[in-house]
Amino acid sequence: MEYRHLGTSQVKASVITYGAWAIGGTMWGGSDESDAIKAIHASIDAGVTSIDTAPIYGYGKSEELVARAIAGKRDKVQLFTKFGLRWDSTEGEYFFELQEDGKTTKIYRNAKKKSIITECENSLKRLNTDHIDLYQCHWRDHSTELDETMEALAQLLKDGKILAAGVSNFSAEEIATSNKLVPIASDQPPYSMVLRDIEKDVLPYCRENNIGVIVYSPLQRGLLTGKFKPDHKFAQGDHRASQPHFQPEYIKRVNAFLDQLKPMAEKHQTTLGNLVLNWTIQQPGVSAALVGARDAAQATENAKAAHLKVSAEDIAVVDKLLATLEPVVAK
Ligand SMILES: NC(=O)c1ccc[n+]([C@@H]2O[C@H](COP(=O)([O-])OP(=O)(O)OC[C@H]3O[C@@H](n4cnc5c(N)ncnc54)[C@H](OP(=O)(O)O)[C@@H]3O)[C@@H](O)[C@H]2O)c1
Repeated sequence: MEYRHLGTSQVKASVITYGAWAIGGTMWGGSDESDAIKAIHASIDAGVTSIDTAPIYGYGKSEELVARAIAGKRDKVQLFTKFGLRWDSTEGEYFFELQEDGKTTKIYRNAKKKSIITECENSLKRLNTDHIDLYQCHWRDHSTELDETMEALAQLLKDGKILAAGVSNFSAEEIATSNKLVPIASDQPPYSMVLRDIEKDVLPYCRENNIGVIVYSPLQRGLLTGKFKPDHKFAQGDHRASQPHFQPEYIKRVNAFLDQLKPMAEKHQTTLGNLVLNWTIQQPGVSAALVGARDAAQATENAKAAHLKVSAEDIAVVDKLLATLEPVVAK
């Protein structure tokens, strides 16, 4: 496993970082707690040291599961969590509405200082720890000045409750403004072979300004493992059913692209998913890939992506093939 510093902070991330969204269950059609804990143990056994979670993932459940999984191992892991999405208060900027199990939940973006300080205390309790290694603003709250949000992060850094400050889903301009107010260790944007918007601005900005980039959904939520058939039926409540990347025509297109990658995966004696992950962590400026895993088998497999030696020539071949893949939405 390789470990990379996030920006100028002392915090390091393993290039394959465990993503704990799906194990929270919400938006993923539920999750199995025992499998989730085994997935985290398998990740740690395979050299993964960083775990990314958020209060919103299962409304606290993901953070609590992570705490259970790392009991007795806190010194072996870096905990990355987030603030700024509230389901338990209506202050801030309305974000979206979630309908699950017959219940409607309204989610608000709230990055006000008072809310951040409260959220941090709640996360520390759920994670059963005295500090968070990386504390990230989940989404920009446009009803709050960035100065106020960054002031809260500066206070938490000073108090030793967090070791590094980060942002997520921020534009390059917002990262630049934030970084003037408090040292930003990393941004957390979406990035995969089939979703490459950050290459235009966020990635170059972070690369040039020594800010870490920990990318999310590098397998495009499982699509890039090649396991989905165009007629796949998702479990009730799995958000992927309505996503553009999971519509039958696009699944067909991606699978045809992945078929062309199979000989390369075979040459490296690896899976398509791991070839995809290795390509991701080799992109200039990418510090780590946050990968979700539902069970120990997925977690063990994903961690192996860090050990592959995919050459620059092979990466160039992949890029050539990718250039022929029509984007999910016509540009
Ligand atoms: N900051 C943000 O706004 C944000 C947004 C999204 C994600 N994230 C972070 O990024 C992490 C990863 O993103 P993600 O979970 O959306 O997407 P992902 O890592 O691209 O996909 C994860 C899903 O793919 C499937 N999968 C994983 N490994 C597999 C394997 N080896 N073989 C077959 N299937 C496999 C699993 O689902 P199935 O088995 O059900 O197919 C798993 O839940 C999240 O957990 C979260 O920490 C952050």
